[in-house]
Amino acid sequence: MKIKVISTIFISVFLLSFASDSLDPRYASFKYKDFETPQYCGTSCHIDFYQQWKQSMMSQAYVHHWDEIEYFELAVPHADLDPKVAEVKTGCNGCHAPMAYLAGNTPPPKPEANDRANEAVACDICHSIEGFEGDIPFNFNYIIKPGKTKFSTRGAGNSPNHNIKVNDLLKTGDFCGICHNEKSPFGIWVKSTHLEWKEGPYYKQGVHCQDCHMPKGKSRTAELGKVYDDSRQHLFHGAHDEGKIKGTIELRIHPDIRELEPGERVKFTIALYNAKTGHKFPSGSVEDRIVWMHVEATDSKGNKYHLPVDKKGFEGEEYTISSDVLAYQDMGIAKGIPNFKGVQRDDVPIGDRIFRMPYFDPQGRMTIQQWNTAKLGVDYRIGPKETKIEHCTFNLPDNLPPGKLKVTAVLNYQKLVKSVANFLNVPKDETEIVKVNEHSTEIIILQ
Ligand code: HEC
Ligand code: HEC
Ligand code: HEC
Ligand code: HEC
Repeated sequence: MKIKVISTIFISVFLLSFASDSLDPRYASFKYKDFETPQYCGTSCHIDFYQQWKQSMMSQAYVHHWDEIEYFELAVPHADLDPKVAEVKTGCNGCHAPMAYLAGNTPPPKPEANDRANEAVACDICHSIEGFEGDIPFNFNYIIKPGKTKFSTRGAGNSPNHNIKVNDLLKTGDFCGICHNEKSPFGIWVKSTHLEWKEGPYYKQGVHCQDCHMPKGKSRTAELGKVYDDSRQHLFHGAHDEGKIKGTIELRIHPDIRELEPGERVKFTIALYNAKTGHKFPSGSVEDRIVWMHVEATDSKGNKYHLPVDKKGFEGEEYTISSDVLAYQDMGIAKGIPNFKGVQRDDVPIGDRIFRMPYFDPQGRMTIQQWNTAKLGVDYRIGPKETKIEHCTFNLPDNLPPGKLKVTAVLNYQKLVKSVANFLNVPKDETEIVKVNEHSTEIIILQ
């Protein structure tokens, strides 16, 4: 892959954080009409891919409710108040509404105005990307050349509509990293899906993002074209697809003793194996996501007991065990609430293990505003093919009835912490609880 060399000093200035309009020569250097609409690509020719893309988050990156709320109610007002983060008013659009960014139309009108910003990560964005500036793909550092030539990976077919130029970059995870790595204005990696993948086992085995998110299948890539056995399906399914989340982590629970009496102590061990993700789990919008393990025992009479996780004693562990504390006070800046007390940090049962990495604002408070992130905390997410071992110790109550005691460990996933969603009126589907997996074991309580 060729990387265009511009003065490195210049690059490091404009890519230090979000590219800001005044320093980025790409900003406002194109017009909307330089890009085809997805409808145009998808109505007569690429019907199949178009319909797949339509129901992926790629097509909704600007119009999705939570994106609209976060951008217009938090990011834009915050950018107007704080010069340190001023650049995000424009910068968010470099990934979420690239056409609007490139046409210099930022902030774009709200989705209801039906501006072309709504086309979000459109066909003609990805297929006009020739390369990226520098060594690491991040913060939409694409080199983009819209026009008669579309970049793709096969090159066999010939289109009556446009030229096709083979660009091997599109085969690689580096291509995806252009938007799936993000640095905050404080120089912190607030999104690092590509970097996590590159450090992990899949990159070494030659498994790229496309293999899991654009799997190969037999289909026609264009109405006038041939049927290929290995057409790249444009599914882009991720956090918003329950089927993709379910089973991602496998968990198994077992006791250290099978038969015991009330008043005695039993220790359960839970192994959580990341079998499916090519990066850490959770990845991407880590500041929003919450993954927690809930362990519960049911005695022979149906009474339930919640088993909190045993502490391990590592630094920052308090952020990985659910508790009754407030956080996210920096939402008060954009919302105009001075001395905002915050909302519940976790909003899940107290004592449960949380697999996450906390983000901190410049004042050291936990934040869901990735652009206001000055520091990261302990990274207790589950890496690709990693197994985490957890323990729950249960001191059996003296009045526990004899018979079977069933103990179940459940791993739950929520795209957005519930308290934050409630505060910002984010629709319910963003906080639905997805059960990633569960497993049960039994012990016998003796007379
Ligand atoms: C031009 C920028 C851009 C490029 C290039 C890009 N993406 Fe994305 N992608 C986005 C944005 C923005 C979203 C977020 C959509 C939303 O939720 O607002 C997204 C969302 C996704 C999701 C859905 C996640 C979810 O929450 O459900 C997946 C999966 C994904 N991208 C995979 C890929 C893969 C694989 C590639 C490379 C082949 C890629 N992306 C290249 C910008 C991009
Ligand atoms: C997020 C970026 C992205 C978006 C959006 C996107 N594509 Fe693609 N497309 C790719 C990548 C990457 C490949 C090649 C993957 C590979 O070969 O590993 C590809 C391949 C293709 C191919 C060739 C498939 C083959 O197997 O030869 C066609 C045709 C295509 N895309 C059309 C479209 C159309 C039409 C749209 C819009 C409805 C679209 N793409 C949207 C990234 C994208
Ligand atoms: C081995 C298969 C595999 C590979 C390789 C892979 N992913 Fe994923 N990805 C998954 C699975 C499974 C999920 C659903 C679980 C999750 O959210 O992590 C997922 C989730 C995601 C999400 C949503 C994450 C979240 O929690 O919001 C994004 C975005 C994403 N992938 C992008 C990428 C990109 C970009 C690459 C390459 C740099 C990549 N993936 C490589 C399997 C894979
Ligand atoms: C470098 C590219 C990039 C920039 C810049 C960027 N985003 Fe994103 N954003 C993404 C990608 C990729 C995802 C999908 C990650 C995932 O699904 O986990 C995403 C996801 C989101 C989501 C979560 C959607 C959901 O439900 O999963 C919101 C909200 C969001 N972005 C808002 C913003 C705002 C506001 C800004 C500006 C302050 C911004 N983004 C800047 C690439 C970017």
